[in-house]
Amino acid sequence: METDVLMIRRIGADDVEAFRRIRLEALREEPSAYASSYEDSVALTDEDWRNRMREPVFLAFRADEPVGLAGLVRQGASKMVHRASIVMVYVRKSQRGTGVADGLVDAVIEEARAMGIVQLELAVTAENLSAVRFYLRKGFAEIGRVPGALMHEGRELDDSLMALRIG
Ligand SMILES: CC(C)(COP(=O)(O)OP(=O)(O)OC[C@H]1O[C@@H](n2cnc3c(N)ncnc32)[C@H](O)[C@@H]1OP(=O)(O)O)[C@@H](O)C(=O)NCCC(=O)NCCS
Repeated sequence: METDVLMIRRIGADDVEAFRRIRLEALREEPSAYASSYEDSVALTDEDWRNRMREPVFLAFRADEPVGLAGLVRQGASKMVHRASIVMVYVRKSQRGTGVADGLVDAVIEEARAMGIVQLELAVTAENLSAVRFYLRKGFAEIGRVPGALMHEGRELDDSLMALRIG
């Protein structure tokens, strides 16, 4: 599968099914990595998924099969529109270490720059060291922590907050 050409693009209305498939896979396979739960998301309607795509969502495809995902969520208040968060980052296990995550985050950064955003932020479960190391390699710096950010399976998980200046 790794020999298939990697294609990363911003998705639109025709891609709802691929978006739903890879997002639900992420929530099912890596439940401690996200604030949303599989159980809540599996109940969403097509319209909910389409609404979610009003802000940029990027999918990575190999041979038309979605294998990775990343999204961008911009702040709404007028004094904060120079800031946005990278969300939903996920790469299918069999595809890790092949540059998919690199390509997805680069695509989000490019889109954010084009939108005039100067600061990208994200929250990552502090004990998710392979993700933290990945973001550090992409130039993000740790800027703080949220203790007990997520309650997962009866255990409080801290979030590490990270930021990257792109202006
Ligand atoms: C975070 C993530 C997107 C990074 O993607 P990636 O392709 O693994 O990124 P990299 O190639 O830079 O590798 C990241 C780490 O995984 C390791 N790795 C490489 N190939 C791998 C493979 N086939 N399987 C598992 N891990 C692998 C790398 O060695 C690296 O670990 P290190 O920093 O300890 O050396 C991916 O690991 C993932 O989807 N994780 C689950 C969801 C998640 O945590 N999302 C982040 C939410 S904030």
